[in-house]
Amino acid sequence: MQVRRVIDTAREGVLSAIGNTPLVKLNQVFKHIEFDLYAKMEMLNPGGSIKDRTAITIVEQGLRSGSINKDTVIVESSSGNMGIGLAQACSFHGLRLICVVDAKTTTQNIHLLRAYGAEIDCIDEPDPVTGEFLQARLDRVKFLVDTVKNSFWPNQYANLSNPRAHHQTMREIVTATGNQLDYLFCAISTCGTMRGCSEFIKAHHLPTKIIAVDAVGSVIFGGAKAKRLIPGHGAAITPALFQDDLAQECVHVKDVDCVIGCRRLARREAILAGGSSGAVISAVEAMLHRIPPSATCVVILPDRGERYLDTIYSNEWVEEHFGDVAENWEGEYEECVAIAS
Ligand SMILES: Cc1ncc(COP(=O)(O)O)c(C=O)c1O
Repeated sequence: MQVRRVIDTAREGVLSAIGNTPLVKLNQVFKHIEFDLYAKMEMLNPGGSIKDRTAITIVEQGLRSGSINKDTVIVESSSGNMGIGLAQACSFHGLRLICVVDAKTTTQNIHLLRAYGAEIDCIDEPDPVTGEFLQARLDRVKFLVDTVKNSFWPNQYANLSNPRAHHQTMREIVTATGNQLDYLFCAISTCGTMRGCSEFIKAHHLPTKIIAVDAVGSVIFGGAKAKRLIPGHGAAITPALFQDDLAQECVHVKDVDCVIGCRRLARREAILAGGSSGAVISAVEAMLHRIPPSATCVVILPDRGERYLDTIYSNEWVEEHFGDVAENWEGEYEECVAIAS
């Protein structure tokens, strides 16, 4: 397949490397499939995830509209990819960033945020009423926005620039697949990616069906809230960006199946990806028998795997939480399917 590259000349320096990620064909992760399966390699954005697109779109929009100027302090609650994407964008534009994280944030992510020059504001105690860090972090963001002069809250869960960033993601996918896309598998949290892709699909009257990939324990599509071990996809609140007509279907994936999906991607395609990428691979597997042989499918792989070496890619961690599941990715393909189904 010919993948056309559209060079974004509006951005400068490293920010010009955001987007236009490759679309690669996955020939090995599932044997004997007749449909075409491609992966949108969002981990190849310079900050390591799809959130580079969201972060730079929100910052650029703020700079254009005047709600961000050179003295603005950006304040956001994120312990993961959005924080890192913002830290990259703020470093490039010389903006101060206060990133509100919590006691569960990995040391590696805190180091990454600091390396880009972000200031860390760490919440040590969960909210006393809900028992959750998320509420305590949002309360802290509100306090900082109220007390820090000239502050700006990107608010990725409600900011319309978040989905707008992904019109371009979908444009790139459609350009590369020549409008022939039948299924798009998209992991969800703020719902920015899914909503942006859905808006593009509707605006261009495309036949593409979106399959939302959520976590078991996430409430986005109305499931019961439960503890989740894999960060990235899923949410404990319904994001303001959510609308119930954005996807044709939703597949809920268990944490263990994220691990299995990730390990298979690493062993069979040599792609080292994060937990939500494993989730989309397991979601495709759950739908294998329903996808017609002539179909073209794209999975979005949101981030890279290095940040999960102590969890998803650690045999000790996997055994501690899920028992001995190694045969699910180490065995022959046919055995794997039998065990996983
Ligand atoms: C690794 C990963 N996967 C999936 C998502 C979900 O993307 P969205 O917030 O656009 O729904 C996120 C969001 O932070 C993420 O970090």
